[in-house]
This record gives sequence, C-alpha cells and structure tokens, in this order.
Amino acid sequence: MKTTLQIEGIALELRRYPLQKNETLQAWDAADEYLIEHIEATDLESGAHILFMNDGFGALSCWASLKGYQVTAVNDSLLSQQSIQHNLNNNALSHVRCLSSLDTLPDDVDLVVMKLPKNNRLLIWQLQQIAQLERAQLTTITGAKTKDIHTSTLKLFEKHLGSTRTSLAKKKARLVFCNKEKSLNILPPATTSFDVPDYQLCLANHANVFSSESLDIAAYLMLQHMPHDESIKHIIDLGCGNGVLAIQAAKLNPQARVTAVDESHMAIASASLNLATHGIEPTRTHCLVNNCLDDFAPESADVVMCNPPFHQLQAVTDHIAWQMFCDAQRVLEPKGRIVVIGNRHLGYHTKLKRLFGNAQVIASNRKFVIVEAYK
Ligand SMILES: C[S@@+](CC[C@H](N)C(=O)[O-])C[C@H]1O[C@@H](n2cnc3c(N)ncnc32)[C@H](O)[C@@H]1O
Repeated sequence: MKTTLQIEGIALELRRYPLQKNETLQAWDAADEYLIEHIEATDLESGAHILFMNDGFGALSCWASLKGYQVTAVNDSLLSQQSIQHNLNNNALSHVRCLSSLDTLPDDVDLVVMKLPKNNRLLIWQLQQIAQLERAQLTTITGAKTKDIHTSTLKLFEKHLGSTRTSLAKKKARLVFCNKEKSLNILPPATTSFDVPDYQLCLANHANVFSSESLDIAAYLMLQHMPHDESIKHIIDLGCGNGVLAIQAAKLNPQARVTAVDESHMAIASASLNLATHGIEPTRTHCLVNNCLDDFAPESADVVMCNPPFHQLQAVTDHIAWQMFCDAQRVLEPKGRIVVIGNRHLGYHTKLKRLFGNAQVIASNRKFVIVEAYK
C-alpha cells in the first residue's frame, strides 16, 4: 500500500487513522488527486479560504495547508477528523480549523471542495448549508468515483445549489462543478423522524445517521432481546446511531446509567435528542462522539451492546467491529457481558469466542444472530 502521495511536485505522507496492522487501504483516492490537480491549474490565490467537506483522511487539507491556503474542514466522522489532524502533524503542517457536520459554515470562504458523501441526505444537507452562505458567486467542486455520480446526483446539485456540469473522467474519477445560484435564509429542519409503534418510539435522525428512514431490521431483532437485570449499573450502546438500543435499554433497566457512543457527530446529536424526548433523565445518560471505547476506564461497564458497522466511509471492513469487541473486553467488569447482533455470515460468534473464551447465540432469524459473551 502506498503511503506517499506525490503530486504536482510535492510529497505528503498519508495514513488512515487509527493505524492498523496490515492496513491495505490507501489514505487518498483518484478523486483527491483530480481535485488537487484541478485547483493547482486554476489561479486561486495563496491565502484564499478553502472549505473542505468530507475530506476522508486529510489528503486535501494537508495539500491545501502546504500550499498556504486557509483551510476549514467539515466532517461528520470523528475518525476523519482524527486522520486529518494526525496527517497534518506527521507532515509538520499547521493545524486547520475542524468543524462538525452540524456546525455553522464560515461565511468568508472563496471555494468549496467536497468529496461526495455516500448518503444523499447528507449531500442535500451540505448543499443547503452552502446555499445559506451569504457569499454570491461561490463555486463548489466535488470529487467522486465516476460510478457514484448519477444523473440523480447532479439533479440534487441543480435543485439545491445551482447550475452544474461535470468534468471528463480521469482514473475512474470525475469532478462536479456547481455554481451557487440559490440562496436559503433558513435551513430546513435538520432531522426527520419515523415511528416504531411496537415499542412506542419516535426516532429523530440527522442526515447522516445509519438507517435514518426506518428502523434497521437487525436493531428490531435486538429490541426483542435486550439485556435487563436489576444488577446492571452501567450499559454502553457502542455505535449507537440514533440511540434506539440505548433508549430501550434505559427503559428496561431504570436503575442503570446508559452511555451512547458513536463516531458520527450526527448520530450523537440524534441519540441525545431521542433519549431526552423519550423521557430518560439526563442524569442517567451520557452521549459521546468517540472512536470505539478509546479512553474509557477498564472494568467500568456491566453490559456493552453493539450492532457493529461494516463500512468505514466507502470501504467495506470488519476491523471496526473487531476493535469494538476488543475495547468491550477491556471496559467490561469481570462477569460483564457483550451482546452483539450481526449478519450470520459475518462470523461474530467465532470472533467473540476467540476473544472472550465463550460465546452463546441467544436469538436468531434467517439473516441475523445475536451473540452474547461473558468476560
Ligand atoms: C450498524 S450501525 C448501528 C446503529 C444503531 N445502534 C442501530 O442499531 O440502529 C453502526 C454504528 O456504528 C458507528 N461507528 C462506526 N465506526 C465507529 C467507531 N469507530 N466508533 C464508534 N462508532 C462507530 C456508525 O456511525 C453507526 O452509527
């Protein structure tokens, strides 16, 4: 795997963080290279302010910082933010301003550069945020794999921002150029919601939340098999999304504290809102944007519940699930348990057995299994 990006006469050392042994994935892609080459060929003055949205691992922010541009980077993912900071440090570059996907955008930007998000709701939210900027005559350049740019994607740019055209394809990547012609005084509501009548839940979801339009079918099975026991003092919902499992755990275990953890800023904002609207006292809950259980005290929870992710940005991966299981093993009290739901073919049973020395299937259907392991 290459870790040196050589482009337009400069070299940057770039890695995906957190570092992994035997990492196979590069920290930049052809769309990053295309964006850099394109901006190099324009006459954007040094010192101009570039707003980067969804810069996955910092290639764009590092290049722009090296070139003397003022940089603001907006991300929903904490892992992306951590990668940007590590890669800036490793290349001895000055820090850039990092904002979350829910922060107000700065009004003095000269150019917006976006990596196309996987999720159209997030794209619409970000286009609306740009439309709300006061500055007229603002160009947004978006880079993506050619296969991810559909006619429907371009229609979203036209609808929410202004006239749109695309570049030729290069190394299977393409750029989308969009001129800001629309303006928006007030952003539409940031959340949409859906009901889960069987459990009297109404779940609000910010744009980039996992399964934001309906309840995930794995989460639905998990709701039927939630741990509840008077001796439980602290439950962690690891990778909480909109907090659906955390709410149900809090309802079933009124004596317990519940911690909801996710690396997505929008997930944590949603979980925090949902726990409050479902009447769970704030003194019992803690919602935290975090990478897995980094910095959690050892032996500090009785139960960790987890519906693990199988993607990081565009890449399919099981390394985050494994990290979650290892972290849970450390953070659980002796005799504490982890309860995991996953697709049968993901083999979580074998992984948990290897780590905990035991693992039992407590429920299953045709597609999913719930596995429990005790420390
Ligand atoms: C399959 S979803 C489950 C969401 C929710 N618990 C549910 O059951 O509907 C996995 C969640 O893990 C989160 N996640 C991914 N990587 C993470 C990490 N490194 N640390 C914490 N959460 C992470 C994702 O943002 C996503 O919300």
